[in-house]
Amino acid sequence: MSKDDASSYSEVIVGVDALHALVVSIWQAAGSAPREATLVADHLVEASRSGHDSHGVGMIPRYIRACREGELKLNAHAQLVRDAGAVLTVEGGRGFGQVIAFEAMQHGIERAKQLGICAVGLRNAHHIGRIGHWAEQCARAGLVSFHFVNVAGDPLVAPFGGIDRRFGTNPFCAAFPREGRAPLVLDFATSAVAAGKVRVAFNKGIETPAGALIDVDGRPTRDPGALFSEGQHGALLAFGGAVAGHKGSGLAAMCEIFAGALSGGFTSRTETIVTSNAIVNCMLSVIIDPAAFDAPNKDKEADAFVDWLKATRRVEGVDEVLLPGEREEAIRRERTAKGIPVDLTSWTQIIDAARAAGMTDAAIAKFEAR
Ligand SMILES: NC(=O)c1ccc[n+]([C@@H]2O[C@H](COP(=O)([O-])OP(=O)(O)OC[C@H]3O[C@@H](n4cnc5c(N)ncnc54)[C@H](O)[C@@H]3O)[C@@H](O)[C@H]2O)c1
Repeated sequence: MSKDDASSYSEVIVGVDALHALVVSIWQAAGSAPREATLVADHLVEASRSGHDSHGVGMIPRYIRACREGELKLNAHAQLVRDAGAVLTVEGGRGFGQVIAFEAMQHGIERAKQLGICAVGLRNAHHIGRIGHWAEQCARAGLVSFHFVNVAGDPLVAPFGGIDRRFGTNPFCAAFPREGRAPLVLDFATSAVAAGKVRVAFNKGIETPAGALIDVDGRPTRDPGALFSEGQHGALLAFGGAVAGHKGSGLAAMCEIFAGALSGGFTSRTETIVTSNAIVNCMLSVIIDPAAFDAPNKDKEADAFVDWLKATRRVEGVDEVLLPGEREEAIRRERTAKGIPVDLTSWTQIIDAARAAGMTDAAIAKFEAR
């Protein structure tokens, strides 16, 4: 680990392997079995390496708090509660989402390979993090997948035309594997910006982009305090803005229902608000074996389209038109070579969380010295 001189010590740069080893040590100190600690580290470091810092190692302090409250259950496993052939229902029991979703996808992948398709309803997992990770697990097995997720009981987003918070930042994800190339992975929160980005703006005392937030009376605002100030009850808007906000809002609502209701989990409403540090996710995943279609030209067709799309004329300042997943691929290449930047506030909180998990200062110092 080294201080980043260019940003006046505002961030540290940590090598991918060192960061992974630290995360494994934190969770083993907290009581995770080695496999769980490794799966959590795989996920969080990969999210950070992909540029999604809001879902990477910066989540550790929140997870430690949820763990100490007894809301995040260590060493739990995905329970297959209903097996209806091509439809599986999996109970997460508030276990580590990084383990529960991994195991749920393993079930779904195996079944999709047998039957051509499998829908997995996963309920009541603790935070399953960056959803692209689960789509990539399916893509590595050669499978296409779509994922609809709700952040159950944590409404931060107002529906189109509404003022009050009614659903979470409910992500949607879809992936298409490609022979010899990285899969296409579309993966986004259905809110105009991720809640984590508003929190960063709040902490820094800067404004959020226009069109992302409304205040308690439904007026547009750029003040992130509308979401995070004590006693404030403004809301995020769904993506799409004034012209197309009904599309983001509609997709978020379908995520809430597909994930929260179809899985046998729960949807957000007054009676189900989660007030602890837990983050509860439910997810409907549809996993498809492309080999089950009569489509011998699928790769050729997809590649030809991609080439044609990229050959478009570009607006000024744009070097390349990107496909879903390409931005993350580029950031991974850069961060693998140069290390992962972690802002100093998050780094301090992670080290505090390591102590709270039971790591000694001597054990922590070993990582800081690398
Ligand atoms: N588990 C949860 O409860 C939860 C909730 C919300 C979000 N999330 C996760 O948060 C992460 C961040 O979400 P977000 O909404 O901030 O993502 P984002 O706004 O960065 O959008 C990411 C998507 O857009 C694509 N993309 C980015 N820039 C592009 C460009 N210039 N051209 C073409 N495509 C481009 C990316 O490849 C990716 O598919 C996601 O991984 C999501 O799964 C998780």
